[in-house]
Amino acid sequence: MTPIEPRRRIEFVLGDITKETVDAIVNAANSGLRGGGGVDGAIHRAGGPEIMEECRRIGHCDPGDAVITGAGRLPARFVIHAVGPVWKGGRNDEELLLISCHEQALELAREHGCLTVAFPAISTGAYGYPPELAAPIALRAVIEALERLPMIEKVRFVFVDENLLEIYREALAHLKA
Ligand code: APR
Repeated sequence: MTPIEPRRRIEFVLGDITKETVDAIVNAANSGLRGGGGVDGAIHRAGGPEIMEECRRIGHCDPGDAVITGAGRLPARFVIHAVGPVWKGGRNDEELLLISCHEQALELAREHGCLTVAFPAISTGAYGYPPELAAPIALRAVIEALERLPMIEKVRFVFVDENLLEIYREALAHLKA
């Protein structure tokens, strides 16, 4: 069977990622896997202490990489903790690191048999990546990964902010095929 074209496997919704009933939700984590504010804080609050216990055992994740844990009390089966780049003006490998954390997250999802994955807008909050720049990079990385990973049926980007959702929607519409 021909897999569905990657763009048609991407969707955008407004909401709280912790409520998503998908196989894996992606966390915008830090290298120390210590928890924090934003999505990270919301995931650990809603998911309970089990997720942090697993994070402590894993201990570290480099920027551009991702690790996986269970999802505690969350409806998802897994949390994939992806570490995006801190925005420092754009000449410090930010783009490469943003691409690779999306790729690694989807690779881990595949290894764990996940068919549906939800992403937040990694690096666009505390890490300061301008969303207009982050959106096409994140989307291109996901599209290219989905070409290689036909078993992943759905990638849902979840936003708390309608403006951000519009920025990602526009970016997808303008990406060259
Ligand atoms: N669901 C979906 N999106 C959310 C949620 C939520 N519950 N909470 C926040 N967001 C959005 C923010 O609006 C932002 O656009 O997620 C995006 C990413 O923001 P951050 O969570 O600040 O992530 P990031 O910019 O990658 O910074 C990571 O922040 O919380 C710390 O421990 C984390 O140190 C790490 C850093």
